[in-house]
Amino acid sequence: MMLRQVTGDQDPVDNKINQSPDYARIVHDSIQYVWRHGVSVDTTRAERGPIAVSASGVRVTDADGTVFLDALAGGSAAATLGHARVDVADAVHAQMTKLHWVSLRTFINEPSVELARRIAGLTEAGLQTSFFVSSGSEAVESATQLAKSYHRARGNPERTKFLYRKTGYHGTSLVGASASDNKEFRTWFAPLAPGFVELDACYPYRRPAGMTEDEYGVSVADAMEATIIAEGPETIAAILAESIPAALVLVPPASYMRRLREICDRYDILWIDDEVFIGFGRTGRWFGFEHYDVTPDIVTVSKGITGGYIPLGAAIATSRVMETIFGDGATTQAKVSGHTYAAHPTACAAGLAVLDAIEKEHLLESTASVGDWMIDEFRRRYDGHPHVGDIRGKGFLIGIELVQDLATKDRFASQLSVGRRIMARAMEQQFMLRATGDVVTLFPALVTTQQDGEAMVEATCRAIDEVIDEI
Ligand SMILES: Cc1ncc(COP(=O)(O)O)c(C=O)c1O
Repeated sequence: MMLRQVTGDQDPVDNKINQSPDYARIVHDSIQYVWRHGVSVDTTRAERGPIAVSASGVRVTDADGTVFLDALAGGSAAATLGHARVDVADAVHAQMTKLHWVSLRTFINEPSVELARRIAGLTEAGLQTSFFVSSGSEAVESATQLAKSYHRARGNPERTKFLYRKTGYHGTSLVGASASDNKEFRTWFAPLAPGFVELDACYPYRRPAGMTEDEYGVSVADAMEATIIAEGPETIAAILAESIPAALVLVPPASYMRRLREICDRYDILWIDDEVFIGFGRTGRWFGFEHYDVTPDIVTVSKGITGGYIPLGAAIATSRVMETIFGDGATTQAKVSGHTYAAHPTACAAGLAVLDAIEKEHLLESTASVGDWMIDEFRRRYDGHPHVGDIRGKGFLIGIELVQDLATKDRFASQLSVGRRIMARAMEQQFMLRATGDVVTLFPALVTTQQDGEAMVEATCRAIDEVIDEI
């Protein structure tokens, strides 16, 4: 194993485990004993993948001593404060040595109450009550249970269906998979949960020719209304929809969001805004919905709530929903599941430290300015490029859609694997980006500086240009 030169942030950890006899064993055991998530069994068996041994800021170091510039906040968007933050580690240590965990069934704990109170004060949207869990999938599942409780409390127990959109992703539980447009999940996990109804995505770049974005937004929402009427509005509990769908970075026009809200109100359908990917600052605001003049009924969060330091998620219900579920007029006792690790005090202490850091370091502002600079810079560099169809995003949620033909917006043939090749090329060049199909995406940590942002733009363009030149 070649030892490559370490560049970037100073790293105090000894990374040279590749020189120890343990190294070969770890590689072997990683295939034998650890089922890697998010990759196929074939990939797990065929590739060992880099073994991360340490990280700092926006850089991750592997067992060869290679340093990767991380434009993915750890790979799945969770490390929003960057890696190895001593302030968060100190908060976690202090909580663990004071009260690491007790069951919410038996005791209230202070950090969870404080974190929920802080979340309620972040926006004017009336997000009031947090149902804390440990992951995004659990948050989504809990939100659907809250929605059912809401309708039961209103005397409508037959409202059990959920709407979801094409290209969306909402997790790996049966509910999450049933609400996700993921071919593998839909095949492997079949039969899925009943009562999940698919809608079209709002994909402004791929709108019909001759339509403005605003007209298109209205037309997609109107199609949603037609589906609601066909299904029977009295059977539908909620729509599960990210305010800004992250996988393909589909920033919707305001007209779509406005109409979606109006339709939900008209038919008493709740909007569960899944902010697991973008909540807590990724788009330069606390939540994605704040870019629009609308408020959701339930918001789901995870990842950024603790910057990935300790797993935590939440379904956060607005006061309107909670008044119905818990209020005097409620006709049914609310019944939602509970988890052993619900409102885990240590996780909530990490969450409080993360909120402190975002506020004290003005990270929403820097995310908006550095992220929007990156989007502008990509647009400047790729102006007129024959294969760059669209560059879109908000803050540190950035997408670059590559196409075979700019005029027709035809995609590259799938066997060319353009996106996958760009992702692999970037990794060879010690840079972490993601591609979903041929949409190259970047979602770096909120602490990404202007200098880091410039390096990320440079590295992205290098990987894209090299692969496009080859095909
Ligand atoms: C929008 C969205 N919802 C839900 C999830 C599921 O979260 P988790 O992987 O923590 O279960 C994800 C994960 O990426 C997500 O992006």
